[in-house]
Amino acid sequence: MELDVLSVDAWAERVAGDLVERLRSEPTLRLCLPTGDTPAPVYAALATRLEAGEASLEHATVVLLDEWVGLDPDDPARCDGRLRRELLDRVSPGPAAFHRILVDELAPEEAAARHDEVAAGGLGLTLLGLGANGHVGFNEPGSTADGPTRVVTLEAGSGEAAVARYGAKRVPEAGITLGIARLLASDEIWLLVTGARKAEILDQALRGPMGPDVPASFLRSHHKLRVVADTAAAALVTRTP
Ligand code: F6R
Repeated sequence: MELDVLSVDAWAERVAGDLVERLRSEPTLRLCLPTGDTPAPVYAALATRLEAGEASLEHATVVLLDEWVGLDPDDPARCDGRLRRELLDRVSPGPAAFHRILVDELAPEEAAARHDEVAAGGLGLTLLGLGANGHVGFNEPGSTADGPTRVVTLEAGSGEAAVARYGAKRVPEAGITLGIARLLASDEIWLLVTGARKAEILDQALRGPMGPDVPASFLRSHHKLRVVADTAAAALVTRTP
């Protein structure tokens, strides 16, 4: 595991710069992307750099990490809409393909199965955020390392976060997420973590027992895990024991 601790000011620019480098050396990259507050400043910085011609998504494929079930297509909290607004619609050309999760077109189980097939085509680089309860994607506590892509019942806090933090018009009933097994099959994973409120859970994820109580802890078993945190989130991890 590689741990990069960066200042709050430098953090997003650094991740965006590293993504630019990646896209330059591997233009056909298959990227799995999360949404939420953590990656938003990275996407803003990346969009600016792509628009300046530093690299392009033209030959890249973007696979969405997860999606709410039960929110209207135009709900502000929808993951697909958010990724489009924050990154994909801001760059031209856009990616060769954007695989959203087909929650409007298919029954949830079918949409999950279809998305799993997409991810089975390979993920070169997966970006993840860290939930306050240790979730990654919507792999809530109780998820296992071999967990499949599936429809999940959200913990109350996760559903409420959609309303309180992301402006959802109703509390979503469930979510669809790539399973931990699929995430671990990615060639490389970058776990992005910012803010003091994530310090305790990041410490547990990186230094506590590896197990379903903190699903993010399973990421430690990946051969190419990079954790990119700001100083506030990394406060406990970098403390000498
Ligand atoms: C979002 C996702 C979630 C978030 C996590 C952290 O696509 O998969 O696991 O990454 O809940 O959310 P933020 O970044 O809003 O604190």
